[in-house]
Amino acid sequence: MRMLLITLAFATLSTGCIGGESGEPPVVGIRNMYNQPRYDTQERQPFFADQRSMRPQVEGTVSREMEKAMAIASGRNANDDAWLMEVHPQLVAQNGGPAAFLSRGKERYDIYCAPCHSISGDGKGMVSRRAAALGASGLVAPSFHDDRLRHIPDGQLFATITNGVRNMPSYAHSIPVHDRWAIVQYVRALQLSQAPAPENTEQSQ
Ligand code: HEC
Repeated sequence: MRMLLITLAFATLSTGCIGGESGEPPVVGIRNMYNQPRYDTQERQPFFADQRSMRPQVEGTVSREMEKAMAIASGRNANDDAWLMEVHPQLVAQNGGPAAFLSRGKERYDIYCAPCHSISGDGKGMVSRRAAALGASGLVAPSFHDDRLRHIPDGQLFATITNGVRNMPSYAHSIPVHDRWAIVQYVRALQLSQAPAPENTEQSQ
């Protein structure tokens, strides 16, 4: 009899949940692992002297994904006093040579940058057009074919993708380092494709 009652009670409890919505916490038969003692993010706790439950990383910790060559990771030279002017040739060689590197850059650019900067780099991607239509001019991406952006160093272009700039988000976590450099190479190709003819063409005729 007692068993029957318990079974009935469970049956009622569980059918109560099927299909219905409830603001109550879920009914869990065995709660042992459900209610584990734990600390919330940023919660104070008395065990460590600094009372932080989130432990700082051990000094000198290096992430497995981190690029160890500082210049390649930052786009700055070894003394950190100037931008790299060009994509490091070693990076190009390690990633299948110039042609493969450029086509990888194009593929990644079309995925990550074109929605705002457009396939041709004129800044009229779908997101920018929508932003312009809504009057949000601060969210309209600039054209890569303006004079200033045609002349910024490769390292600065790389850092823009890495850190973002004003209203443009950072891609440090979504695009790996070598792909960011491949994109830089491709942006340069796009810029060249639209660049004014060099001034000395007349002389050579
Ligand atoms: C979500 C839209 C969006 C995407 C995606 C995006 N950008 Fe931008 N980008 C912007 C906007 C908006 C600005 C202008 C930021 C500002 O001045 O506030 C900008 C500015 C820039 C600039 C100019 C920086 C300067 O010095 O003024 C560069 C270079 C650039 N983006 C490169 C890229 C590249 C390369 C990618 C792809 C990895 C990319 N962007 C993806 C929206 C975007």
